[in-house]
Amino acid sequence: MEMSKVTIFLLITVNWLIEARPKPIYFECPAPEVIDPCSCREENVFSGIQCEGVQSLNTIQRSLGNRFSLPIPWLHITNSNILDLPPGAFYNMSVSRLFISGSNLRYVAEDAFVGLENLAMLVLQYDRLFCVPTTAWSPLGRLKTLSLASNFILRVERSAFKGLPALETLILTGNRISHIDKGAFPLTLKFLSLASNHLLKLNGSVENLPNLERLFLTDNDISSLDGELDGLTRLKMFDVSQNVIKMLGSDIFVDLLSLTNLDLGDNKLESVGDSLQPLTNLTHLSLSNNYLTVLLENSFRNLTALQVLDLSGNRLTAIDLSLRHLSNLRKLNLTRNRLVTLKYLELKWLHGLRVLDLSHNNLTVLELTGQDLGMLTVLKLAGNKIKSFSFSLDRMTELDISFNDLKTFSSQDLGNKLGLRVLNLEGNPWTCNDHLTDTFRELTNHEVHVRGAPVCPLPAN
Ligand SMILES: *[C@@H]1O[C@H](CO)[C@@H](O)[C@H](O)[C@H]1NC(C)=O
Ligand SMILES: *[C@@H]1O[C@H](CO)[C@@H](O)[C@H](O)[C@H]1NC(C)=O
Ligand SMILES: *[C@@H]1O[C@H](CO)[C@@H](O)[C@H](O)[C@H]1NC(C)=O
Ligand SMILES: *[C@@H]1O[C@H](CO)[C@@H](O)[C@H](O)[C@H]1NC(C)=O
Ligand SMILES: *[C@@H]1O[C@H](CO)[C@@H](O)[C@H](O)[C@H]1NC(C)=O
Ligand SMILES: *[C@@H]1O[C@H](CO)[C@@H](O)[C@H](O)[C@H]1NC(C)=O
Repeated sequence: MEMSKVTIFLLITVNWLIEARPKPIYFECPAPEVIDPCSCREENVFSGIQCEGVQSLNTIQRSLGNRFSLPIPWLHITNSNILDLPPGAFYNMSVSRLFISGSNLRYVAEDAFVGLENLAMLVLQYDRLFCVPTTAWSPLGRLKTLSLASNFILRVERSAFKGLPALETLILTGNRISHIDKGAFPLTLKFLSLASNHLLKLNGSVENLPNLERLFLTDNDISSLDGELDGLTRLKMFDVSQNVIKMLGSDIFVDLLSLTNLDLGDNKLESVGDSLQPLTNLTHLSLSNNYLTVLLENSFRNLTALQVLDLSGNRLTAIDLSLRHLSNLRKLNLTRNRLVTLKYLELKWLHGLRVLDLSHNNLTVLELTGQDLGMLTVLKLAGNKIKSFSFSLDRMTELDISFNDLKTFSSQDLGNKLGLRVLNLEGNPWTCNDHLTDTFRELTNHEVHVRGAPVCPLPAN
């Protein structure tokens, strides 16, 4: 009895506490005619205001200034004609995230952002800025995210982002940047994209950014990374694909101990030397579309955490012992190389391999009959010259052996095919005989989805 009184009392107290807790206050949209020509979307935390195709900033000022008790969660100004942001452009407006996009913006005055002291995100993209509007930053002490993507910016001066002490994300994608001064990027940065610019070199601009976690340099003309990555001890993701890197100095990655994802695809690498050895935490590596001809025995030494390796589109003629350290690899892509043979001995280290793509090489024979590749489920062999194969891959669910040189095969060649679901056999020069017909009947009985089976006449009874 006593217990239940206590319980009831507790329940009432808890209820009272819950009721008394202030209800969350969301930004509320005003009546549409009040903010015309802008419009408001009310979706609780996602509420915000859009001004599309507006002819001048004064119009926006008149409809939104002094109108709200809470900051506008986001304000999108799109496809408008705003050639410049004059001093006090956002007076009497409090905004958390401001986007000005596709609006012909060319010039930002020194005091343009006065009043936006709480701004957390600023996006000025698909505009016509030729330089970083450095002098305008000073009120933006709380800005965390800045995008100046898709403008016409040519260079980044040493002082470009001074006055942004909280900046964590900086996106400069799609400009024409060819020059960057050393020391231009704030030490607070965690995310930096310089993708799709005109950079020939980094000029010491990204080294020693102690908080940087993601760096995107894809689609530039960078030829060397030597000495440029020092001190990036927190970097997790680095994309430098689509550049013109030929060589990797042996100690360029020594500080990148946190790196998990590295994309060096679409460069001009002929070798990786032993540069990758410090990357003990790397899980994803792409070297696709380079000029690699050989892999050394120690190229991937210490990459024991690696799960996905993309070597597609190179000139590799052999694998040899290069993969022997990759005991955690799950996916290996070797499509579009020049492999003529591939022996079981070259792959047997890959105990965890699930997906193997060997399509578009020059393989004639493939024997994968040992026990060590027991996890393999998907095997792609399209576009080789395979005349015969034999596998014992108990878990294989998908096999593509289309466009090879197969005249016949027997279902024993597939080993235990209980798990097989998809088999692509298109484009082979089949020779029909009873044996082949039986093989297909057996596959059909196992409910394998066969594509491109030869049309053979029914065997005479
Ligand atoms: C801001 O609001 C004040 C009154 O609250 C007004 O005097 C001032 O003109 C406004 N400024 C602009 C630029 O609209
Ligand atoms: C490299 O930095 C120096 C000094 O900051 C600068 O004068 C030069 O223009 C920069 N060069 C490039 C290619 O970024
Ligand atoms: C490497 O990975 C391990 C396991 O995920 C983690 O504990 C360790 O902190 C990582 N090392 C670095 C330098 O990030
Ligand atoms: C690679 O691993 C070996 C031994 O496992 C170690 O001696 C060597 O220092 C490592 N190399 C790098 C660059 O971390
Ligand atoms: C291998 O890489 C190529 C691109 O080079 C891609 O088209 C293909 O889908 C990849 N294979 C697998 C199994 O992911
Ligand atoms: C494949 O091998 C043939 C000779 O068997 C050769 O003529 C051809 O150039 C090779 N193709 C590639 C892509 O290596």
